[in-house]
Amino acid sequence: MSRFPRGFVENSSMEEPETPLRRASICFRPINPSDLERLEQIHRDLFPIRYESEFFQNVVNGGDIVSWAAVDRSRPDGHSEELIGFVTAKFVLARESEISDLIRYDSSKGEETLVYILTLGVVETYRKLGVAKSLIKEVIKYASSIPVCRGVYLHVIAHNNPAIRLYKRMSFRCVRRLHGFYLINGQHFDSYLFVYFVNGSRSPCSPLDLVVLVLNYVRSGIKVVASKLRMKQEEKGLRGVKCKDNTRCLLPTQTKRNLASSERVSSGYDYV
Ligand code: ACO
Repeated sequence: MSRFPRGFVENSSMEEPETPLRRASICFRPINPSDLERLEQIHRDLFPIRYESEFFQNVVNGGDIVSWAAVDRSRPDGHSEELIGFVTAKFVLARESEISDLIRYDSSKGEETLVYILTLGVVETYRKLGVAKSLIKEVIKYASSIPVCRGVYLHVIAHNNPAIRLYKRMSFRCVRRLHGFYLINGQHFDSYLFVYFVNGSRSPCSPLDLVVLVLNYVRSGIKVVASKLRMKQEEKGLRGVKCKDNTRCLLPTQTKRNLASSERVSSGYDYV
């Protein structure tokens, strides 16, 4: 199984860009080592957290991360290859993922996987032109081309309305709200977990789904109550302990079965 996206793709499905980018010629290609500096810059600009250089090296060298770059070929003065958007993702084993309970397994298919989207971003001047939509389509197309892949999933912070609207528009299903998932600047934020099933994976609208959703809802309610009780107890014990970096820290507080995000924490984020 190739773990890398195929090469350059002309975006024939792009909507006609509106002024002042009417002549933009957006294309998609894999991210490569020459994108390193720009990729780091855009991550710094778009996300309220710092990523370690190991993460970027992994992206540009195609380690265990797959990625797509968006560039505007109509840009003059040697900028035609400069990133204007990107998406990065990695494979995780379905049975070890935090949505393992939502997957209908087929033992005849071998080890089943999911694609977990790590980061997605479009620079401000190229927004609302369909660039992110096209990047996500690339990820879905890629995931669908791998027979053992069951879906694409991601976390998004609960107040990121443009991103939430994007995923909903693309028929991702919001399957969970994770309370206090992110810790940024010492403050907890909820996250939504969105999934897009591929390759005939479970129909998100089946009656069984509703049962699973209700069970998950009840289970997450119990977890919230339990974790609040636990946090209260811990607070008593930890009163006075502060975040090392008061300005920029992010720590998903869910670690159980959250292979991708816990790896994100250990390999990609600056955290306490
Ligand atoms: N307000 C409301 N809806 C929006 C907005 C917005 N500002 N931007 C995009 N959308 C929704 C719309 O439904 C739109 O479809 P429509 O125009 O047909 O209604 C749909 O998303 C697709 O829009 P695109 O033009 O493809 O999105 P864009 O290229 O502007 O990129 C993105 C959206 C990636 C969220 C961009 O705003 C961005 O880079 N934000 C900062 C970084 C970020 O938040 N990344 C996502 C974090 S989650 C993660 O990384 C897993």
